[in-house]
Amino acid sequence: MEIKEFFNNKKVLITGHTGFKGAWLTQIMLNSGARVCGYSLEPNTKPSLFEALELAGKIDNHIADIRDLEKLNEVVTKFKPDIIFHLAAQPIVRDSYDNPVYTYETNVMGTVNVLEVMRLNKVPAGVMITTDKVYKNFEKDVAYKEDDQLGGYDPYSNSKACADLVVSSYISSFFNPKDYKAKHNTLVASARAGNVIGGGDWAKDRLLPDAIKAFLVNKEDLVIRSPKAIRPWQHVLEPLYGYILLAMHLYNGESDKVGGWNFGPNDEDMQEVEKVLQMLTGHLKHGKYVVEEDKGKHEAKLLKLDNTKSRTELNWIPKYDLSKTIKETAEWYEVFHLIKGDIKKFTSNQIESYFDNN
Ligand SMILES: NC(=O)c1ccc[n+]([C@@H]2O[C@H](COP(=O)([O-])OP(=O)(O)OC[C@H]3O[C@@H](n4cnc5c(N)ncnc54)[C@H](O)[C@@H]3O)[C@@H](O)[C@H]2O)c1
Repeated sequence: MEIKEFFNNKKVLITGHTGFKGAWLTQIMLNSGARVCGYSLEPNTKPSLFEALELAGKIDNHIADIRDLEKLNEVVTKFKPDIIFHLAAQPIVRDSYDNPVYTYETNVMGTVNVLEVMRLNKVPAGVMITTDKVYKNFEKDVAYKEDDQLGGYDPYSNSKACADLVVSSYISSFFNPKDYKAKHNTLVASARAGNVIGGGDWAKDRLLPDAIKAFLVNKEDLVIRSPKAIRPWQHVLEPLYGYILLAMHLYNGESDKVGGWNFGPNDEDMQEVEKVLQMLTGHLKHGKYVVEEDKGKHEAKLLKLDNTKSRTELNWIPKYDLSKTIKETAEWYEVFHLIKGDIKKFTSNQIESYFDNN
């Protein structure tokens, strides 16, 4: 299935379109000829990818709260999407310790609201974005599979596990694949990806944005907390490609595709924080970091995802290894911060070369 052929003129609603992954997804959809409606809060970083790509004027843009069911329903009723990608969330582990109630309201009730408007408006297909952190983490050297136990230590991870359970309940109760076409016309899946990196992320408390700010903007050393923590690093386009494939299968009525999907990198790219920093500083040719362990807020040390199901059943194969991922990311920030080049063109070129690389 050709992505451009499929999405041309499709109506796609993206929640969280003003964020890092949402802005990339919005640009991919625009490049594919889709009609895009976005529903999110204002961009929460300065700079922001959403503003750098000047997306507001190119889509049906709604700045509103995902917790507002009435408003969300009004937008969905009017736009009548073919597909919804739900990315809006409070996504930062450390912020979830400071604002647990807001994190649960946004991540859990936000997901309920999106599924509810899908039910009310009979939206054909939806991909709910959760995270690799939904699994109960035993800190063992095993990669989690889709039917492993859900859990989540901190409020962010736990709220996303709850969101995944909400998806599961809506599938069983309202969008059951065995009743597809007889009682309803909606297919829904949840997508769990790893630690996503790529140009255009300026969120705090994330390794790459913090490193870029330290090395390229403030020209200072970076302070890191857990040099030996292992994460499933991947370029932002990798999980987005997975979400897109999943949406295409669901929209085409493949009811066996409902449920959870892991879009994690290959085993060799699950690497220590320190290794990622060495590759980044190697590419930038400068940058130093110091370690200051933070014992206050628990964060998982070891987290691996098993991507066998997505590889075999969706034919989703990670295209970039860690070295290419770091290179693409570092080049993006160099164009933005140092060269001050045409970032809209550069971003579209990165998208085109990723999707051409089949
Ligand atoms: N970045 C990663 O490494 C990563 C990894 C796994 C999963 N995820 C998930 O991917 C999704 C997108 O993450 P991101 O990295 O782009 O985050 P981000 O912080 O850049 O974007 C979050 C988006 O959600 C919107 N949002 C937040 N609270 C909202 C609310 N109350 N109402 C409406 N909109 C709201 C923001 O406006 C923004 O558009 C999230 O669901 C996140 O949990 C991200």
